[in-house]
Formats: sequence, structure tokens, C-alpha cells
Amino acid sequence: MNLLLLGSGGREHALAWKIAQSPKINKLYIAPGNAGTSTLGENVPLKTDDFPGIKVFCIQNKVNMVVVGPEDPLVKGIYDYFLSDSELCHIPVIGPSKQGAILEGSKDFAKGFMQRHGIPTAVYRTFDSQTLEDGFRFLETLQPPYVLKADGLCAGKGVLIIPSLEEAKKELREMLSGKFGNASSRVVIEEFLSGIECSVFVLTDGKDYVILPEAKDYKRIGEGDTGLNTGGMGSVSPVPFATKEWMQKVEDRIIRPTIKGLAEENIDYKGFIFFGLINVNGDPKVIEYNVRMGDPETESVMLRIKSDLVDLFEGVATQTLRQRQIEIDDRSAVCVMLVSGGYPGHYEKGYPIKGLDQVEGSIVFHAGTIIKDRQVVTNGGRVIAVSSYGATKEMALKKSFQEAQKIQFEKKYFRSDIGADL
Ligand code: AMP
Ligand code: GLY
Repeated sequence: MNLLLLGSGGREHALAWKIAQSPKINKLYIAPGNAGTSTLGENVPLKTDDFPGIKVFCIQNKVNMVVVGPEDPLVKGIYDYFLSDSELCHIPVIGPSKQGAILEGSKDFAKGFMQRHGIPTAVYRTFDSQTLEDGFRFLETLQPPYVLKADGLCAGKGVLIIPSLEEAKKELREMLSGKFGNASSRVVIEEFLSGIECSVFVLTDGKDYVILPEAKDYKRIGEGDTGLNTGGMGSVSPVPFATKEWMQKVEDRIIRPTIKGLAEENIDYKGFIFFGLINVNGDPKVIEYNVRMGDPETESVMLRIKSDLVDLFEGVATQTLRQRQIEIDDRSAVCVMLVSGGYPGHYEKGYPIKGLDQVEGSIVFHAGTIIKDRQVVTNGGRVIAVSSYGATKEMALKKSFQEAQKIQFEKKYFRSDIGADL
């Protein structure tokens, strides 16, 4: 088949790497892709939300399936766009409908959904500019720190964790007066949960599901989880505290009720669900839903899937996932992200990347790169993910750190404590 993958980050390079291994693939296209994806398929210069452009491309190139990497085109309704167009409706889109994507697109919707279906999550209430005073009173009932979340998508910046009540009230007022534009016209205030986080992924056809390997990501820029939040500095899979017993709780209390809840609410959902979980004294609770794979979790999770991912996608498209199984590699897989100096603040782009051909035994995924004058140069904050297998996570990490040294670009930075807390 001919498959079009949408997106351009490390996640999409890792998805492309896995998809390209499938014997079912004739042509793989990636829009817009990056320097890394161009070695696995053909990059197409289209934006992920240019639906009319994607339509023309799919028809001209006889695309048989579209896989969506990032949330943006899903929230904008690419699934529905294909389904409602007579020339496109035969092409399955792996990703939820616009209604399903609200699980990520609106924190208030996600919290309400969890409440309706008895899915464990932090206690919460939602406020808007009309109910600011009620918001103040609700904050007074909570213990510090205070968790304030903009309802809408904010490119990962919409969650604030605030130590003092005074500051929390000030922040609530600012958010509701448009600090994050329309995205914070409603604000979810919730109880702070203390515990260690874990990302769990499923692929669902709306009725059945397969559980992918779980992973932990490292969000802060500094060693010891300090400093500003980033798009992700590394990931580790499996996660030691996600034991068989813990994962059984996740499946019984969170995954199954979510799939059942989607069906009960008639939400068309055929794609990935990413459960952002926190382990509170041995019990998993949901911090957030995402309607896509995680980045940089995908850069370790893909290494651990032995089954043909495209075969699983076909199961999703034809609602025959029940007949398929997922086989998982017992080894550990990790990813260490090489980033531009200065990131997540100001950083320069365009530095030549050297030594990529020296890497042996690890898998290099490009996150922010571009080819300029026949050279691979830096083109983002997160630049390269170095992913490795190992019999243990320690061995996999040792390998990634060793290979990371071979890749050179000006002001390269990476965290050398990925996985050390586990
Ligand atoms: P989110 O965008 O909802 O994933 O939130 C970003 C990050 O904020 C999460 O990955 C958590 O580390 C943290 N966070 C969100 N909600 C809570 C909560 N209720 N308690 C503690 N930490 C939270
Ligand atoms: N790694 C977290 C995310 O992709 O949102």
C-alpha cells in the first residue's frame, strides 16, 4: 500500500522507521517530514493542516492510508474531512474524529469524560471569567501547590503549578483575561497529585485495543529534573514500576472504561490514545489524555514493537484489531535527545551536524533537522534522538550516551541522567 504519514518530528521519524519495515508498504510519503524521514520515504512539502493540499496529493499518488503524528490536524478534523469527501472516504485515517480529539483539545471535556465514566483522576472544577470569584473560593479549599490548566491547546505551555494561594489567584485572573488567548477562556483547577509519571499507549479500532509498550519521558531541561519544561529530553521503556499488577489496574480502571466510554458517547475513535498517568501510592490516575503518540516516548516505544505496525493499522481501519496481536520485544529501549544550546529559551539554528555516519548500533531519529546545501543542519530546539536497545535499561543508556558523543554540532546539549531516577 501507499501510506502518507503526517508530521515532522522525532516521533514521526520513529513511526516512519517502523512503518518502512512493513512488507505491506509500497510507497511511504511523509508530509512535511525532516532530513531523517527522507532516508525512509519521500518527503512531501505540505503542511499537516493543509487539508485541500493533502487531498490532491492523496488522489494523485493513490494513497491508501493516512497516519497522523501530531494532534493539530486531528483537533482540526482531518478524520472527518476524509470521511465526508466522496473522493477520500475510502482512505482510512489513523487518528480519532474531531469529536474524539477533544479529549486532548479540551481539558474540561477530558475531565468531564473521566468523571462520567468513573476513571480515576484529580478532583477538579472548571471556571470562566463569569465565575472568577467561585474560582478563588475553590482554590481556598485546596492544598498547595495549585494546578491551573488552560482548557485549550497551548503547545504544552498551558499547565501552571503554583506554590502560593495569592499567586494562584493572580494567575487565574490573568489566564481568564486571555493570557493564553482563547485557550484559557476556561481554566481547569485541580488537586495536585504527588507521584511518578508514566505514559501508556493503546491503539484502538473503537471496539478493541492493543496495549503498546509503556514509557517514561523526561520533560525538564536540567539534570535531576530541574529547570524549564521542554518537549522532552529522553525516554525509557519499559518502566520498572509499571509491573504486571500495576498495568492490570491501568487496563481495568482506565483503558477499558475509556474505550467503553467513547463507544457509549458515540465518539468515532480509530487511532492512538496516550494516557498520561501518575502513580499515586500504587494506584494509577490520569493526568491527561493525548490523542496521538508521545514525543520522545515514540522514539523508544517503536523499538519494542516486534509486530508489523501497518498490519495493526489495517486492523484499526477495518475494525478487526481483535484478530491481531501485538508482540513486544523484552529488551529495554531508551532515547536520549540532543538539543540546541539555549533551548527551551532562545537558540540558534543552522549549525552543521557531523558524525551521524559514525554512529553504530544505535538508531538515530531526527527531530529538528533540515538539509541545506547537501548538509544536515540543526533546525529546532530538539535536534536528534539517539535510541538504543539493551538487555537492561542501564546497558541501553550506556550505549545511547556513548553514541551521542559521536554526533557533533555547535552548542549541543543533552541530559546525562535519563532513566537514573527509576
Ligand atoms: P499536562 O499538560 O496536563 O500533561 O500537564 C503537564 C504536566 O504538569 C504533567 O506532565 C505533570 O507533570 C504536571 N501535572 C499536571 N496535572 C497535575 C496534577 N494534578 N498534579 C500534579 N502534577 C500535575
Ligand atoms: N511526551 C509528552 C508528550 O508527547 O506530550
